[in-house]
Amino acid sequence: MSDHFSAYRINYALRSHKRDPFIEFIKSQLLPAFALHVRPLSAAAIASFLVSGGNPSNTTATNDNDDDAVPPTPTDDLDALRGHYAQIFASIERLIHDHRAEQDKPKPESRLNMLVPTIGRFFTDLPLRNAFLAHDDRLALAARRHVPPSFNEIRGILNTAQLMASAPDLQLITFDGDMTLYDDGANFAEDSHLVNLLCDLLSVKGLHVAIVTAAGYTEAERYEFRLSGLLKGMADRKLSATAVAKFWVMGGECNYLFRCSSTYRLERVPLPALPEVFYSTVLQRGTSSPDLPTIPDSSSTNTHDVTGLLDVAERILRLCAAQMRLPAKIIRKPRAVGIVTSGTRIQREQLDECALSLQHGLNLYQQTTDAHVPYCAFNGGSDVWVDIGNKQIGVMMVAHAVGVARGASIVHVGDQFLSTGNDYAARRGCPTLWITSPTETAAALVELVGEMRANGREVGGE
Ligand code: IMP
Ligand code: MG
Repeated sequence: MSDHFSAYRINYALRSHKRDPFIEFIKSQLLPAFALHVRPLSAAAIASFLVSGGNPSNTTATNDNDDDAVPPTPTDDLDALRGHYAQIFASIERLIHDHRAEQDKPKPESRLNMLVPTIGRFFTDLPLRNAFLAHDDRLALAARRHVPPSFNEIRGILNTAQLMASAPDLQLITFDGDMTLYDDGANFAEDSHLVNLLCDLLSVKGLHVAIVTAAGYTEAERYEFRLSGLLKGMADRKLSATAVAKFWVMGGECNYLFRCSSTYRLERVPLPALPEVFYSTVLQRGTSSPDLPTIPDSSSTNTHDVTGLLDVAERILRLCAAQMRLPAKIIRKPRAVGIVTSGTRIQREQLDECALSLQHGLNLYQQTTDAHVPYCAFNGGSDVWVDIGNKQIGVMMVAHAVGVARGASIVHVGDQFLSTGNDYAARRGCPTLWITSPTETAAALVELVGEMRANGREVGGE
């Protein structure tokens, strides 16, 4: 074997935290269709603009024998491209369907697994062809001759496909906080479009809504303050006690659970002590059943293990801060430790370095001990945290609290789906939507409401 790694392998190994292999795969399948089937406008077509006075509608292709006809422009190749793209999405849809039959086996032997070795679980089929056609109707992706479908467009198509698949049977929708419902570190504004949309969702029969955030506070007041715009919106709309009782907040990833009261206040719901037994026996190996495993009523929280893990994390963070000379301070909480700036903004690369150092160091640490406390080490955008537990556990605990048994009936919406992000963990428990801003969240919810109505679910009846 050669002593040297290829540039491709080095690039992949060192940059995988910035990539999503499945989206890259889809992108790479669309590129050949774009390269082969669409041509730039010909010189004759451009010249015809002059003839037509620059009106593009006069320059469309024509095959009649009219002497005055403008030279054909390749609009037909654009129609064909739409067909090619649609076919590719249909093929990927089939790959996912076939993968689902294999994914729970110890060694899944699906074609998709061969093509994208890091592929995870799909909780539903994804109608990708229809989702693509819907996006193409709106954005005319196949009308472009110079710019192929982008990473973000494919992410959007995947989101639409997931919404189409989940809308008929959705029983729990969970949202990340920062950058999903409000800007980083901001509060839920009273005039946010999301207020009405979340109130609408709470009015849907059988649908629970939860915020599952890393922000970890023990007191309800801290969350009430950050969510004040939403809680006020619920009060202004006089949402019924039944509707608001379906609103939950899970803080610290999976550590503090609150439920909305009929007076639009958040009330702490006691959780059983964090079930570390459950973590080490079920989560470390991944779930093998399509149903959510039940969370054992455990009081075996091992504070010694928790403290040990956070101590090591704190040491790693202090080392990173010293070596990179970061303008930073360390914050220690009972179930978290974080590094935040004490002055100027810490750069993204430095934050990624901290998160990857933590992931690497804590993995090694856990290999040397019997303790397997689940944790989440992530780059929060302007800070880095290690929390005890993660959002998979958080979403599952809310699901447990509201009596939802299947991951397929849940959707988690978040912005941090790279491997250095904290929404990433939720993917192991349920379908997810990857958005990048509260505006995108609002657009996704408009789509969801449309899909639910199309499936006969009443929205906004409260
Ligand atoms: P999320 O995007 O809603 O999950 O919130 C993540 C952000 O919450 C982090 O980037 C931090 O700025 C903030 N945060 C506040 N307290 C904590 C904590 O205890 N653990 C992790 N993040 C926290
Ligand atoms: Mg976030």
